[in-house]
Amino acid sequence: MCPAPRNQGSRMPEDIHLALIGAGRHGRDLLNYCLDIPGVRFRAVCDIWPYSQRYAAGILKRRGQPVAVYEDYRDMLSREKDLHAAIIATPDVFHPEQAVACLRAGLHVYLEKEMAITVEGARQVVRAARETGRLVQVGRQHRSNPRYHAAYEFIHEKQAVGRITNVFAQWHGHKRVPYKWPEKEAIPPETLRRYGYNSMDEHRNWRWFARFSAGELVNLGAHQIDVLNWFLRAVPKGVMASGGLDYYDFYDLHDVAQCVLEWDFTWDGATKTVRGAERVNTTTDHGGFYEVFQGDQGYLEISEDSNKGGLCRNTDAPLRPWEPKDAVTAIVARPAGPSVEILPDLDKLTDPVIDLDLRPPSWEWMKTFRRYPPIKAANSDKPVHWYHLKNFFDAVRGEAKLTCPAEVGLQGAVSALKAVEAMALGRRLDLRPEDFIA
Ligand SMILES: NC(=O)c1ccc[n+]([C@@H]2O[C@H](COP(=O)([O-])OP(=O)(O)OC[C@H]3O[C@@H](n4cnc5c(N)ncnc54)[C@H](O)[C@@H]3O)[C@@H](O)[C@H]2O)c1
Repeated sequence: MCPAPRNQGSRMPEDIHLALIGAGRHGRDLLNYCLDIPGVRFRAVCDIWPYSQRYAAGILKRRGQPVAVYEDYRDMLSREKDLHAAIIATPDVFHPEQAVACLRAGLHVYLEKEMAITVEGARQVVRAARETGRLVQVGRQHRSNPRYHAAYEFIHEKQAVGRITNVFAQWHGHKRVPYKWPEKEAIPPETLRRYGYNSMDEHRNWRWFARFSAGELVNLGAHQIDVLNWFLRAVPKGVMASGGLDYYDFYDLHDVAQCVLEWDFTWDGATKTVRGAERVNTTTDHGGFYEVFQGDQGYLEISEDSNKGGLCRNTDAPLRPWEPKDAVTAIVARPAGPSVEILPDLDKLTDPVIDLDLRPPSWEWMKTFRRYPPIKAANSDKPVHWYHLKNFFDAVRGEAKLTCPAEVGLQGAVSALKAVEAMALGRRLDLRPEDFIA
């Protein structure tokens, strides 16, 4: 059931009344996905850029949802009295202030990642959610993706890779070209200054400025680090990182970065360290984006790109009940012979050139996994963000549990922000459980 709007006592409207704060590229995507979810109705759009206001309000008008338009979210909150929820998709630096204000105004919040560009900012959101009793869904859409849930089940319930021993993830993106804007759409300088921007370039390319963003290891990497945390059922206990502005010369945040994280992973009653790398590249998209879980019985690769990845079971891994009965015989048989060459005793050798290559007689057996195609799930044909928004609205109605509430969002935020801190300090950081709570 939908909660009562702020100023309407116990009257229960059929629809969730929604505001969009930040109607840029991603905000408009979210808007379009919401239009495909029954029982949701936009009432207001807030954006400091008239172009974005017009664009979003135009879509909504055409879809029969005329909205009030605002430049300042404070103005919107003081005038719109029947809102239930807000989607916040502004540049990251604004997230804590805007989310806390919405929560205090009685709204539930779908808050795009990253929650904040500082750990303290992310903690403020968690505290405000707790104090107000309102919901915060952090925009880590993997957490609601049916295929990721299926992959999680393969790892944990179906034991598809055995004990996880190593994980890694990458987000490689194509070369960056700074966003432009038509001169006639430029925001007046006094308006830009009012919201902290020195120029239209900063407004359009905020991701590359340290005043607005924590950089791509957080923008992109935090999604994947969160998936690693989720699947390992743990938060990292240590992190080291390296990265820099190695290619571009126009902005001030790293363009290439890698971090190595360490977790305590518990499997079958024993807790061991699992190490994992996240790497982000913004000059070429070799391999795209995916996460990999390697175990002692195989590996599983999963990606938001539903055509990527898959599951490989080692040839010597026991046949699981969910595997096809002929899976083992269908693979290429391992060639006969020892898998490691037996070397003659060194002191008996007269030939000074010793072949110390310990490769098995054939590479073939190394390729002979029992391979399965990319993980599928029933009813998973919607855009990935749709499921996360749907989960949010279902939770607002009291019909579901959030998949990424503020406390869980904070764990991913701290993991990635600490990686950036380790990169700046040039040393490993120990992380404690208390670093991940507010
Ligand atoms: N979950 C995901 O997969 C995903 C994908 C892309 C972007 N995002 C997140 O969505 C957010 C927006 O990203 P984007 O790519 O749409 O950026 P964008 O620059 O295209 O859009 C940002 C919009 O916010 C407006 N804005 C800027 N400052 C504002 C303020 N103080 N108050 C109100 N409006 C303001 C801008 O005018 C612009 O229209 C970011 O937090 C980003 O990290 C998430």
